[in-house]
Amino acid sequence: MANTIVVGAQWGDEAKGKIVDFLAADADIVVRYNGGNNAGHTVVVGGETYKLHLIPCGILYPDTICIIGDGQVVDPGVLVGEMDDLTSRGASIEGLKISLNAHVIMPYHRLLDGLEERRKGGKAIGTTNRGIGPAYADKASRIGIRVAELIDPDRFRARLAENLALKNDILTKVYEVPALSFDDILNEYLGYAEKIRPYVANTNYIVHEGIMAGKDVLFEGAQGTLLDIDYGTYPYVTSSHVVAGGACLGTGVGPMGIDRVIGIGKSYTTRVGAGVFPTEQINKVGEYIREKGHEYGTTTGRARRCGWLDAVALRYTVMVNGLSELALTLLDVLGGLDTLKICRAYICNGEETDKLPGDWEAVNDCTPIYDELPGWTEDISTIRDFDDLPANAKAYVRRVEELIGVPVSIISVGPHREDTIIRD
Ligand code: IMP
Repeated sequence: MANTIVVGAQWGDEAKGKIVDFLAADADIVVRYNGGNNAGHTVVVGGETYKLHLIPCGILYPDTICIIGDGQVVDPGVLVGEMDDLTSRGASIEGLKISLNAHVIMPYHRLLDGLEERRKGGKAIGTTNRGIGPAYADKASRIGIRVAELIDPDRFRARLAENLALKNDILTKVYEVPALSFDDILNEYLGYAEKIRPYVANTNYIVHEGIMAGKDVLFEGAQGTLLDIDYGTYPYVTSSHVVAGGACLGTGVGPMGIDRVIGIGKSYTTRVGAGVFPTEQINKVGEYIREKGHEYGTTTGRARRCGWLDAVALRYTVMVNGLSELALTLLDVLGGLDTLKICRAYICNGEETDKLPGDWEAVNDCTPIYDELPGWTEDISTIRDFDDLPANAKAYVRRVEELIGVPVSIISVGPHREDTIIRD
């Protein structure tokens, strides 16, 4: 399988969980490199549905080492809940490893996430409210608390005291809400520390030694490229390095250690939260896609905004990630629509362009230009061979390949592991 990065190619929710789960069958190590429990990966195995937010999807293979990487932010209460859920359903978590360097989401991060959003009013990002942005902000400000400190009670007590003094000043004096209790947080978090300590490890060496020993490593990204802190639709982004380069930053592996970069893109586009979305369909087409694709958030339950595939944005994604190929997911959802549209270019400032304008605000003034393709009515969810797809479905996939310049190597036609078409 080689060392492979799996990265979201749109605004997240591209069904990465299913593809990672599928590819993890051949992986020795799966390591997640960014984000926290803002992500939600749904995996269906043997009729059981698992919703994972922090633990890499590979955990459902008992012999795979699954790492929560340095680049993640960990809400330990959520992590312990996920560990308990997996074990109570008979899944083994023996292979779980948690990086000493991952940062810890604290109660004040969650609280501040909501308060900052409220303060922004009409300019709110529409975050998942999980404390992600404030936790990464503390990391960049060099005041964050890492897993290494969480599992050492004396250091944790000291770090909490320092941080809480500052955060309580902000909470009471800026936001005028009650201060948080030191003792409550300390007791709660020391309890989590006890549970996760056996799984904490120096994960950089595990990944590195695995690569040196010729093992197959899968680097699992969360969210999507257009939510990247640098390359996404700033400021309507998440706070981590989502792009393929983030896999190196978030795991301690150099770029030469990577062989393959697979982008995961839906056959259409969705977005949750605020921000530009040129191909959004606030109409019957958008509703059709939302209902047929069950486009409601795994993490927050929010209805996702839906629209046509945007090949201009996808081409950008191919570029900034260096994608070698695309896995096209949810192709079955487009069945039943008479006409399908793919945005091949924009008109910006009166000129046709196949490039993004650079300043995301300017995208608001661009108009998509669409290719129109005929749809198909057949149920394709049981098809396993590309040649057996309806002619119009094949033509749709081929047009996507022409527009983005890389092959579509995997097509997903349903939620289960086996609902997958692999192309040569
Ligand atoms: P945050 O990551 O909670 O700070 O949210 C920032 C933005 O990223 C919001 O628009 C969220 O809806 C979006 N977002 C965060 N995680 C995901 C995800 O896993 N899927 C889709 N959107 C996400």
